[in-house]
Amino acid sequence: MDISFLNVDGITIPEPPPYKIKTVEFTRIPTKDERTKILREARYNLFNVPSEAIYLDLLTDSGTAAMSDLQWSALMRGDEAYASARSFFNFRKAIQEIMGYNYVIPTHQGRAAEFLFFKALELGPGDYALSNQFFDTTHANIVNRGAKAIDLVIEDAYDVQKELPFKGDIDLKKVEQFLSDYPGKVKTIILTITNNSGGGQPVSLDNIQKLGTLAKEYNVPFFLDAARFAENAYFIKTRDPRYADWSIPKIARAMFDAADGVLVSAKKDCLVNIGGFIALNDKELYQKIRRIMVITEGFPTYGGLAGRDLEAMAQGIREVLNEEYLRYRVEQVTLLGQLLDKNGVPVLKPFGGHGIYLDGLAFAPHIPREQWPSQAVTCAIYEQGAIRATEIGSLVFAEKDENGNWIWPKLDFIRLAIPRRVYLLDHIFYIAKNIVELKDNADQIKGLNMTYAPPILKHFNAEFELVE
Ligand SMILES: Cc1ncc(COP(=O)(O)O)c(C=O)c1O
Repeated sequence: MDISFLNVDGITIPEPPPYKIKTVEFTRIPTKDERTKILREARYNLFNVPSEAIYLDLLTDSGTAAMSDLQWSALMRGDEAYASARSFFNFRKAIQEIMGYNYVIPTHQGRAAEFLFFKALELGPGDYALSNQFFDTTHANIVNRGAKAIDLVIEDAYDVQKELPFKGDIDLKKVEQFLSDYPGKVKTIILTITNNSGGGQPVSLDNIQKLGTLAKEYNVPFFLDAARFAENAYFIKTRDPRYADWSIPKIARAMFDAADGVLVSAKKDCLVNIGGFIALNDKELYQKIRRIMVITEGFPTYGGLAGRDLEAMAQGIREVLNEEYLRYRVEQVTLLGQLLDKNGVPVLKPFGGHGIYLDGLAFAPHIPREQWPSQAVTCAIYEQGAIRATEIGSLVFAEKDENGNWIWPKLDFIRLAIPRRVYLLDHIFYIAKNIVELKDNADQIKGLNMTYAPPILKHFNAEFELVE
């Protein structure tokens, strides 16, 4: 691979990871002609591109991790009894030891945990839920119950270039104001760690603890959306000198101690391909969720999962606390960010934990908002190098006003999510090379006309054609 044109001055090549590879999965790069045809057939929606036609899949870091040999062997220990299986007790023990909560409820993935939680809280019209920034499924689960989801992340989070260590922090003043303006109406506060919608930015331990105190004062249940809790803990260790000597489990425990519980998509930091859970201390709420979940998720000791899935999660949640693993993961993402940044690609800073976010409006300034610039760049990235990224901008967040005109969100990103333990440094250089080459010819990227979009979660099913 010729990368001599890349400026590599001042980049940091990660020290090696604490693992080696035992199994490989073959991939192939389709030809340029094939890629052009596939994109057209997919109606310029990357969700429709068959994964076999993708060389590097950066669509998501969710459910895409490579499991370890210990996790694969844990699968064989799965106890598939319908109720009170041994695997459930192993799983619960791991979570109790790491997080310190008494009650643990498995669910088939994160959004199922959200659904059950909001139902048990009886969230309804006139109610509010507050967050630094809700992830789209959490937002959808709140709105689906007729309640309102309010994002109160610090204002600096919207400044793409501002380098702050904890850009995922919630604005505590705004939270306090909201709580006193709407007494009894805020049914829960959920802090997303790290903040996925805002670029994988971490939340400081101070912010978590102060929010915990505030929530207690107002008697509002305070939960962490802890899908990426270990990456958040690593950032606390490396960005806040007061915790430099603390172990990752100790920092993680301090985060959990400040909250009443967690909603978790295990498909991220539990290093598994499916799964989720709720963990909490409130017995009454726990019993209510147990009653509700039998209708949709199954008996409370398996929650829509097989016993072997519970074993894989129990092992994964222990493995993710390995500091050397976390160091390599964050450094790999940082390397990609540095390579792109130093070569003139507009990127969100500081670099997040699970991926790099490109500023779509700056990447293709010649494409008007009505022609979906970030989606156009996402398609061009695929055509360039068979790399699948995802749009996290207008396509996800734009809504229509009462006159049918689009209201565009402030930020328009293309996310390059890095799956855990899957790709090598060579792959990172391949991604950087292709995106830098594309950026150098960005004025050739064509806009898109939307030909179809469903009213909810339109990005999954939207269809486009090229503006010729
Ligand atoms: C922060 C966050 N919360 C919740 C979810 C939903 O989890 P799942 O995809 O397992 O339903 C995700 C998924 O990407 C997420 O990133």
